[in-house]
Amino acid sequence: MTTPLTSRFPYAKGPDGSRRLGYGADYNPEQWTREVWEEDVRLMREAGVNVVSLAIFSWARLQPTADTWDFGWLDEVMDLLHAGGIGVDLATATASPPPWLTTAHPEILPVTASGETVWPGARQHWRPTSPVFRAHALRLVREMATRYAGHPALVAWHVNNELGCHNIHDYSDDAARAFRAWLRARYTTLDGLNHAWGTAFWSQRYSDWEQLLPPRLAASHPNPTQQLDFKRFSSHALKEYLCAERDVLREITPDVPVTTNFMVMGGTKGMDYADWAGSGAVDFVANDHYVVPGPQDRDELSFSANLTSALADHRPWFLMEHSTSAVNWQPVNLAKRPGDLARDSLLHVAHGADAVCFFQWRQSAAGAEKYHSAMVPHAGPDSEVFRAAAGLGRTLSVLAPVAGTVREPARVAVLFDWESWWASEQDSHPTSLLDYRQEALDWYSALLAVGVRADIITTRTGLETYDVVIAPVLHMVPATLAKDLTRYAEGGGHLVTTYFSGVVDENDHIWLGGHPGALRELLGIRVEEFGPLLGDDSADLDNSTTGTVWTDRITVTEPDVRVLARYRTGAYAGRPAVTRRTTGSGSATYVSTRLGRAGLASLLPELLTAAGVESELPEAARGRVELAVRRSADARFLFLVNRTDAPVPLPGVRGEVLTGDVGTEGELVLPPREIAVLRRPLTT
Ligand code: GLA
Ligand code: GLA
Repeated sequence: MTTPLTSRFPYAKGPDGSRRLGYGADYNPEQWTREVWEEDVRLMREAGVNVVSLAIFSWARLQPTADTWDFGWLDEVMDLLHAGGIGVDLATATASPPPWLTTAHPEILPVTASGETVWPGARQHWRPTSPVFRAHALRLVREMATRYAGHPALVAWHVNNELGCHNIHDYSDDAARAFRAWLRARYTTLDGLNHAWGTAFWSQRYSDWEQLLPPRLAASHPNPTQQLDFKRFSSHALKEYLCAERDVLREITPDVPVTTNFMVMGGTKGMDYADWAGSGAVDFVANDHYVVPGPQDRDELSFSANLTSALADHRPWFLMEHSTSAVNWQPVNLAKRPGDLARDSLLHVAHGADAVCFFQWRQSAAGAEKYHSAMVPHAGPDSEVFRAAAGLGRTLSVLAPVAGTVREPARVAVLFDWESWWASEQDSHPTSLLDYRQEALDWYSALLAVGVRADIITTRTGLETYDVVIAPVLHMVPATLAKDLTRYAEGGGHLVTTYFSGVVDENDHIWLGGHPGALRELLGIRVEEFGPLLGDDSADLDNSTTGTVWTDRITVTEPDVRVLARYRTGAYAGRPAVTRRTTGSGSATYVSTRLGRAGLASLLPELLTAAGVESELPEAARGRVELAVRRSADARFLFLVNRTDAPVPLPGVRGEVLTGDVGTEGELVLPPREIAVLRRPLTT
């Protein structure tokens, strides 16, 4: 794809002017006294910090009342940081409106689907569509930009914070007005809207635009296309707000790149970041990521980092936040194990991050996040966490040659699509057990298990360069996407898709004639009825795998379809479960049930071999080591990550060891949970 992202990235520079990887944290000096600020800068230098995000939650301090400003303290902090050689990713400070504003203007507060006001007392209690909020926020942005325009510490602008973290779906009257305007722009006529929303159903026909509402609490299931459009609109409205702040910043400081921190992690799904990044809302992509402990936790980290790289069009991106150790918002907040701090950070670098920052610099003594880890914990700098953070600072400085290199594309891709995510998990469906992101993650875990490198891509990414494209639960397939996928497979690509794919068009209308309508011909199969499974039910296949969640009643319709596996048990015993149609030199494979990461790992070799894709890792390391590759004009950088608690030998793997305790003589051995980075000239 051609990207509207500019290539401006706020690189830290070494003494000789060369690029360095960024390293730092959110810095909240307003929680501390001036003496602490000076110690902070000294310790930041000791830890190798070269960039911090500042003033994210400072609105109440910067503008104590509607007509008074207090920038003196921030001037001082900016100067101190600059004197310490530390760059500032300066927030616009709009994330948490102060009490004077919400008291004077309660009409900026969000409203839930059931009509309850979201009150102040935490943060992000504002409506993305409120003109009153916007006027106050943009005034603050203008003050900030004007005051710090020429400040030498300023390296980037940080719009708001984690837009949509708490306020993505607002059902207020402001939202209703903006939703109507968005619908008018999308459909032009009421006839168009009535058709798209299928309003012949349940007497929902609209005869005036004023009748349209967000999907507020209703007697039963609200109209699905209304729900879907409200999701699209909500993502769009927040992007539009982001662009409004960005435009003020660009007007005053055209040379300072603008970003905001995305949340590509876990189940955060309200913001269509492929749209945000793909339409140029930011100059460079930044992401926040937190590990949620579980059997696939580091696979999920890798998946998220990999997807963030796709959003950045495979250019360097900025890891704005992750944690040194525990967070405060999970039911049980586990401390990280020794070594995880560095490994988690470097796994992001492996997937294209050129800056690695934590939330936060100094652990708070008060407030809702006082039990959230930081670079300087409650115990102070004489602590394992601070020593580990300083150690990572040294490692990142050794890895300076990686800064500015790009991720080397893989031959296999997993297609991730926000519209299918939203659409496949709506209510009134065959099952509520379907988990879109989990299915995608399972395929990625399976690829890691067989030692094959893959890219996570979006529908904006070109498919042509990939030998295999896996599109799990690609539920919403408009005609154009169906054509692209067909062209891909007929042109020699190997497409793999799964249950509940290709079922609806962009209006969430069924493609009629048998499922998976949009892909039926390409796959050469026809599904008459879905066979979802109860939570504790499963169906065995004759290839020794087991399906859960879903099955399909499949009929093969084309002679060039081969059945790779059949159901052995369950309602569809004897019928096809996995099919593969040959299309010229390409193919189209359908997997009709949830096989899970182990089942998919046993299926993958057959699919990959047919496409001529092999692991780049030595046999002994497959599944135990994750490989990611970055590339400069003259070198490849191999990131090798031990996914296990045991040492893993790397027979035949050679290169200059930049970091990692892998030994130097003879065969390299990767210690448990360690990450190593090797540089190899491109000619070898
Ligand atoms: C988010 C926010 C931070 C902080 C962290 C805690 O990422 O942006 O301000 O609340 O969560 O994990
Ligand atoms: C009830 C209603 C019908 C339909 C069915 C679906 O019986 O009267 O309109 O919604 O439920 O099961």
